[in-house]
Amino acid sequence: MTAVRPDIAPKQAPEATRFPTGFVWGAATAAYQVEGAAAEDGRTPSIWDTFSRTPGKVRNGDTGDIAADHYHLYRDDVALMKRLGLKAYRFSISWSRVQPTGRGPAVERGLDFYRKLVDELLEAGITPVATLYHWDLPQELEDAGGWPQRVTADRFADYAAIMAGALGDRVGTWTTFNEPWCSAFLGYGSGVHAPGRTEPASALRAAHHLNLAHGRAIEVLRGQLPAAVQTSVTLNLHQVRPLTASAADADAARRIDAVGNRIFTGPMLRGEYPEDLIADTRHLVDWSQLVQDGDLAAISRPVDVLGVNYYTPTLVSTPAEGAGGTRNDGHGASDHSPWPGSEHVAFHLAEGKERTAMNWSIDPNGLYSLLMDVTRDHPGLPLMVTENGAAFDDYVSPEGRVEDPERIAYLHGHLDAVQRAVADGADVRGYFLWSLMDNFEWAYGYSKRFGAVYVDYASQRRIPKASAHWYADVIRRHGLPQTGPA
Ligand code: FCB
Repeated sequence: MTAVRPDIAPKQAPEATRFPTGFVWGAATAAYQVEGAAAEDGRTPSIWDTFSRTPGKVRNGDTGDIAADHYHLYRDDVALMKRLGLKAYRFSISWSRVQPTGRGPAVERGLDFYRKLVDELLEAGITPVATLYHWDLPQELEDAGGWPQRVTADRFADYAAIMAGALGDRVGTWTTFNEPWCSAFLGYGSGVHAPGRTEPASALRAAHHLNLAHGRAIEVLRGQLPAAVQTSVTLNLHQVRPLTASAADADAARRIDAVGNRIFTGPMLRGEYPEDLIADTRHLVDWSQLVQDGDLAAISRPVDVLGVNYYTPTLVSTPAEGAGGTRNDGHGASDHSPWPGSEHVAFHLAEGKERTAMNWSIDPNGLYSLLMDVTRDHPGLPLMVTENGAAFDDYVSPEGRVEDPERIAYLHGHLDAVQRAVADGADVRGYFLWSLMDNFEWAYGYSKRFGAVYVDYASQRRIPKASAHWYADVIRRHGLPQTGPA
């Protein structure tokens, strides 16, 4: 991914100079959100199949059974990516499609889909960026205890070996996990994501085992892959800000930074869990039992690039006695907190900022600060923005077009923030728009449209939105147009 490819060298437009040569322009999706074909070719249910069938868990009772039917339409989708000029496509692999029980030998029919997808991408000149796990644990492994159980990390390392063997050298970057915070804390803490458990101690245990699985997989991948292939992990680092300058709010921010961010960056990038995290949560788990000899060495095996996903900042305070605070921290409303040990922290929406259809405030400076913070804390670490984008209430006009000026403004602002971070020293290697196309937005089902390409789910017709054409133009010029959107 980092090699300078002549076909993506800057086109010498004056405004293009601030995106580095070789900066990768991509778009992202995830298996359960786009593939469909949920029961085809040997695939068995993942925790998201089960969860979406559980009444009340997903809006409108939507499931990923058909989704954007990418499983059948991938050739057309790759052709569309090529027309848009994308240089890389970030997708994830459905574990239960390639290893239905989560253990034992792989199913060739399942692997074939990814082989064909990767072939198609390479033929189109698009670099495949594969994520091993974007939240869809095989249901059988959840039935055996899921991520709170240590053995799940062993299963994951086996699965990583299967994928490295099947496709290893033809993928530009292998990413172990997408947003393990969501898997641990929304899956086992607040329960708004699959498997929907609400057990604070299990959420912390899950976080450690996701870290361990990451480290084991990096070891396996590094052992099997050619040196030119990159390894990575994607984190949704929360850009945490205190509501006021009070000491109490500073403590709220420290706590959320600990259990939202440093619980992953600590062991992965420094080889240790933060002391304050351990202190904040020791009434819930015995860390000295949970973290076994050798775990930290395994987890801290170096990655070539860190993926960061950013949508909106996280504004926090410690509520005064009895004042309460909103429980909805932007990750979905629940009576159970996804912040074990810091349940008393309140979350706020910044005032005076525009919002997306998710009710997330739009703040490109948050992305700039995030990239600069990571650069300050982990100097020399190459970064990749692996997700950024926005949902709006898009619709097809009578003329058959989808005009989405708000999304163009969002993307322009955030790409400008990336440029500023690069100019100020952040080593950002690429940007992946979330998402290539509208898809199953987890607990919100099909009600939220994040795509640059509109999907008419009844016909599976794809209609590139105005933002897709705008992004294609950015890619062509390797830089932002001089004037922002109207
Ligand atoms: C991220 C997820 C991605 C998508 C976006 C909107 O947290 O990784 O799958 O749902 O949010």
